[in-house]
Amino acid sequence: MLVGILKDEAEVGKVAAEHVAKLMENADTLGVATGSSPLPLYEELRRMYEAGTFTLEGKKAFALDEYIGIAPDHPERYRNVLRTELVDRTGLTEENLNTPDGGAEDLTEAAAAYDASIKEAGGVHLQILGIGADGHIGFNEPGISLVSRTHVDALTSQTRKDNARFFEGDLDKVPTKCITQGLGTIMEARNIVLLATGANKADAVAAMIEGGISSLCPASILQMHPNVVVLLDEAAAAKLTQAEMYRTRWEVLR
Ligand code: F6R
Repeated sequence: MLVGILKDEAEVGKVAAEHVAKLMENADTLGVATGSSPLPLYEELRRMYEAGTFTLEGKKAFALDEYIGIAPDHPERYRNVLRTELVDRTGLTEENLNTPDGGAEDLTEAAAAYDASIKEAGGVHLQILGIGADGHIGFNEPGISLVSRTHVDALTSQTRKDNARFFEGDLDKVPTKCITQGLGTIMEARNIVLLATGANKADAVAAMIEGGISSLCPASILQMHPNVVVLLDEAAAAKLTQAEMYRTRWEVLR
């Protein structure tokens, strides 16, 4: 893992956008996350699109996950969030935005179809990730199989509490289930960039980078991936014991 410890959230977004632009120049498929962490990155990509230095024209995007049991027109439905953030504002078209079908009658079939659609597109070239305070990536919560494929999962109470801010602070409005790419699916992306900011991510970040590989911290599986860049602000990096080494490696290798 190449770990960049940066000044603040804005810097994380800027460096992430440069990385995405570079890796997507000659590639067709981008894996996109939702939540707060990638928002500064998406803002920067929109700015670069307007400036003519970045485009997703002709490229496909694959979302990590989707809520189950959310109204189709709900602004927090992940497909709608990604529409708002990226469609028509970065060169991405509605047809090229792929999201797992959380409204499908047969969710098992929808999960398998989603994995197949990623494969058919040639796999994800670069996957953007955030990390939950409990170490989840996608919605792979602690205890999940390290080789899981796209599947239906339950959201932990920690994740539902964390996400209540998107639902007027009302826990009862936060869906209890989701359909998410599995850890095995995510690990097939050729490159991964994970963004984490804020002190509430510091424990999960330390467990991901410096802990043992365990389904107790699903993100720790990324230690087994050859091409991962982790971009942190100082607060999210605060519990790393080897920060100086990461800073040196970043200076030399970035
Ligand atoms: C979102 C996703 C989640 C989030 C994670 C962090 O598509 O898959 O894993 O990345 O919950 O969320 P934020 O960035 O809101 O702290």
